[in-house]
Amino acid sequence: MSTEMPTEPVLQWYAENARDLPWREPAATPWSILVSELMLQQTPVVRVLPVWREWMDRWPTPAALAAEPSGEAVRAWGRLGYPRRALRLHACAVAITELHGGEVPDDHAVLLSLPGVGAYTAAAVASFAFGQRHAVLDTNVRRVLARLKSGVEHPPQTQTRAEVKLAESLLPEEPATAALWAVAVMELGALVCTARSPRCADCPVLERCAWYLNGKPPYDGPPRRG
Ligand code: ADE
Repeated sequence: MSTEMPTEPVLQWYAENARDLPWREPAATPWSILVSELMLQQTPVVRVLPVWREWMDRWPTPAALAAEPSGEAVRAWGRLGYPRRALRLHACAVAITELHGGEVPDDHAVLLSLPGVGAYTAAAVASFAFGQRHAVLDTNVRRVLARLKSGVEHPPQTQTRAEVKLAESLLPEEPATAALWAVAVMELGALVCTARSPRCADCPVLERCAWYLNGKPPYDGPPRRG
């Protein structure tokens, strides 16, 4: 297996193929990025987009949301599903307003202390909003790394320490590049290295993908959800 880092081809692919998503634009704020990440956790991008836009128009800052009753957040959540996330986001806005001067904290450990913010969201916000160097492991990233580096079709059902270590070992040194790499791998998983019927012909790292080089053996672990 090639040990050459896959960074460059993946970044190049991202520059040419990334979707234009509003939370990736320069005008995005740490708050709008945090909102997007909570919405995207269990809901596809196309369904999140209109709700995220309305939400950001109505509550452009944590303080704006914190000033409203939590029931308004649940109503605005609409049909995104798992409405408890709306309550958590409201609680998060209150905590940011009351404990952090209304600014989304930039420190990973402080982010983790916010209601509704777990390891994934803390790393995603630190990386995408603040350009820090963190392993950002969502389902898409876990699948790309499982294929590229472990030579298997799907990652384990539950995230392992080994996956975190692998992701950390692949992070580019420079924080801004690491942040770009994180979102690029996520996008590769969403658009090319999909769970079913991956588009390997379009993959920028096909020739170093352990799974592909193994002849794409089918998954043989315990039954998977989804
Ligand atoms: N861009 C940044 N975070 C994302 C996510 N969770 N899903 C899709 N695109 C994203």
